[in-house]
Amino acid sequence: MSKSVIVAIDGPAGAGKSTVARSVAQRLGYLYIDTGAMYRALALWALQTGVDLDDFHRLEQLARQARIEFQAERVFLNGSDVTTDIRTPQVGEAASKAAACGGVRRAMREEQRRIAAEQSAVMEGRDIGTVVFPDAQVKIYLDADPGERARRRAVETGLPADQVARDMADRDHRDRTRTEAPLSQAPDAEYLDTSGLSREQVEEAILKLVRQRTSN
Ligand code: DC
Repeated sequence: MSKSVIVAIDGPAGAGKSTVARSVAQRLGYLYIDTGAMYRALALWALQTGVDLDDFHRLEQLARQARIEFQAERVFLNGSDVTTDIRTPQVGEAASKAAACGGVRRAMREEQRRIAAEQSAVMEGRDIGTVVFPDAQVKIYLDADPGERARRRAVETGLPADQVARDMADRDHRDRTRTEAPLSQAPDAEYLDTSGLSREQVEEAILKLVRQRTSN
């Protein structure tokens, strides 16, 4: 009997999750789901419609109404392509704030489980191995030292490294200390520090783990 496989990749901002998860999914022929993009799309909608990020009741309503779709590496919110708009630092910060709302997390979790119900998937985020798929066959906690993470994000965004480092530290603190599904390593997750490793080395380490965990 075939059973779908979930590869859960969690970790802080700038650890390299997206690049590696996308490529691993492609090599395995699995679906790739960037759950951070879902929180970002919701946050963008809240910013556009003037919903206060402390208004958890309204945020949950938005999360239940939002139609967030992935198509060929692009992200759509209610039918509009928001792939570029969700990548600003402002939206990243708003996403981290909206992600503290329990109702938002419940809506996102249901949607994430629905998407991966019938297909093998590589899903990356903050709570995939701990809360969304606690029984995932493969769990990885991807990390890198904070200086390295900030440098990578600064190169990606073109923003000054010190500003990126400050924003990242705030966001990591918020993501790790919130009450609802905080960022943490699942006890059965493999810890992988990507500082000083090439993308290929990280991918190989993950693929090896997938082979080990799914071979029988
Ligand atoms: O991975 P990212 O930087 O695109 O995520 C944006 C924010 O969304 C992040 O600061 C925390 C939140 N998030 C979350 O709480 N849970 C997830 N599974 C994914 C992202």
